This record gives sequence, structure tokens and C-alpha cells, in this order.
Amino acid sequence: SVKSNSRSPSQTSPAKHLPKQPFMIGVAGGTASGKTTVCNLIISQLHDQRVVLVNQDSFYRSLTPEQLKNVKEYNFDHPDAFNTELLLSCMETLKRGEAVTTPNYDFKTHQSVGPGSKVNPADIVILEGILVLHDERVRDLLNMKIFVDTDSDLRLARRIKRDTVERGRDVQNVLDQYAKFVKPSFDEFILPSKKYADIIIPRGGDNEVAIDLIVQHIHTKLGQHDLCKIYPNLFVFFSTFQI
Ligand code: ADP
Ligand code: C5P
Repeated sequence: SVKSNSRSPSQTSPAKHLPKQPFMIGVAGGTASGKTTVCNLIISQLHDQRVVLVNQDSFYRSLTPEQLKNVKEYNFDHPDAFNTELLLSCMETLKRGEAVTTPNYDFKTHQSVGPGSKVNPADIVILEGILVLHDERVRDLLNMKIFVDTDSDLRLARRIKRDTVERGRDVQNVLDQYAKFVKPSFDEFILPSKKYADIIIPRGGDNEVAIDLIVQHIHTKLGQHDLCKIYPNLFVFFSTFQI
């Protein structure tokens, strides 16, 4: 016989109180290593999931008029160039499953511009940027840490092409900035953060096997998350009806 007890499943369901935490992924690596390319490949293979991409570049601090006059002396590859407090609070908000507004950054004027972009809650949050594995507080929010490892000569070649075509720079300017700031900061801050990575991807977006394995792992993790949501309901079912 089946006897119903007095508790209603909707009042007792532990599932209602489960925090809806997204799976957080960090993708770091040197300039033009293929971070964006890797993220886009992961996102395109996760078509059945809600995924959002947050770019560390959005959190660059605006240059002051004084700094703008001496822009060639400014190190955009130093951790202090980013507003990491704001990045951290945005990531914490997304981790709680809430929407957030992230700033927009203009590489031509070196300024934060416009009202920002709304980032909706998602099942998977990907944070991409040269220094996303540098700060311990940011690292602690990440469930999966990836480092994209591409030879520096390839990266410089890509950077020259991209910055002259997309970011309004001339070749001499790109080479000077690379020698003065980009390379030394890579050696001092970015490369040492590789040791925190769970996965190192050689050759970036060309590495189909690595992308495929990462996507499979995310599917497995989200599958486990779904089971956690189902089990409390089963628990309520059996505690509600005495068989
Ligand atoms: P990051 O986000 O690390 O700066 P991107 O993914 O934006 O790197 O790539 C930087 C530049 O290099 C882009 O212009 C991109 O089109 C190019 N690029 C990226 N991966 C490859 C690749 N595997 N082969 C050739 N060009 C690439
Ligand atoms: O997309 P990517 O990871 O290459 O972006 C980071 C790079 O952008 C840094 O290496 C930094 O030198 C460069 N940058 C720049 N000008 C800015 C902001 C960042 O050249 N205003």
C-alpha cells in the first residue's frame, strides 16, 4: 500500500535550496596564443548548453590624460593594468547564478567606453585573458584552468598582423611595445601562472584533440551536476510515499 504523509514535496524539496552554480573555466596564455579561438571552439561544441564568455580585456583601466600623453611608457601587460577587484566581483556574481554588467574597452583610445554589456547567468562561464590565472582569488573561483601554449615567434607574428589591422597600430610601435613590455611581462607574470593550469594546450586552436577532451569533460561535469539535482527529488519521492 502507498500512504502519503503530510509533507508537500514543494515545501521539502532540497533541490529548491541547491545553489545553482555554473561551471567556471579560465583560459589564460600569452598575447595572440589563440585564447579567443580556443574559447570559440569550445563554445561552438557546447551547443546544447548555456555558455557565456567574459574577457579580462574588458577590465582594463582607462588611461588618464597624463598616461595617454605617454602611452608608449604604459605597461598593458602588468597585472596592475587591470581592475581585478571589479573582475572578481563580476565573476562572484556570475558564480552565484546572477546577471552582471561588464565594462567595454576600446583598444584604440585605451578607454573603458559605453554602458557596458549585460552577461546573463549561464551553466558555463568562460573567463579568457592573459592574466586570468595570476590572481589567487580569481583562480579559486575556477573549476577548470586552461593555459594556451603557443610559440612566441608565432604569437608575435599574429600580434603584428592583428594590431596593425584591428587595433590601429603601426608595425614599429607593436615591435617596440613587445620588446619593452609584452615579452618581459610574459616572462614575469604570465608564464609562471602556467603552473596553476589543469590543462595546457599546445598549438592553441589547431589542437582538436585537446578541445574535444575539454568539451567531453565539461559534459561529464554538468551531467554529474544534473544528477545531483535529480537525487534530492528521488529522496523526496521516497520520503513522501511509504511503500
Ligand atoms: P588571443 O585571444 O590569445 O589573443 P586569438 O585567438 O584572438 O588569440 O588569435 C590571435 C590572432 O591569431 C587572430 O588574428 C587569429 O585569427 C589568429 N589565430 C589564432 N589561432 C590561429 C591558428 N591556429 N592559425 C592561424 N592563425 C591563428
Ligand atoms: O587579446 P590579447 O590577449 O592579445 O590582449 C592582451 C594584449 O593587449 C596585451 O598583451 C597588451 O599589450 C595589449 N593591449 C594593448 N593596448 C591596450 C590594452 C591592451 O596593446 N590599450
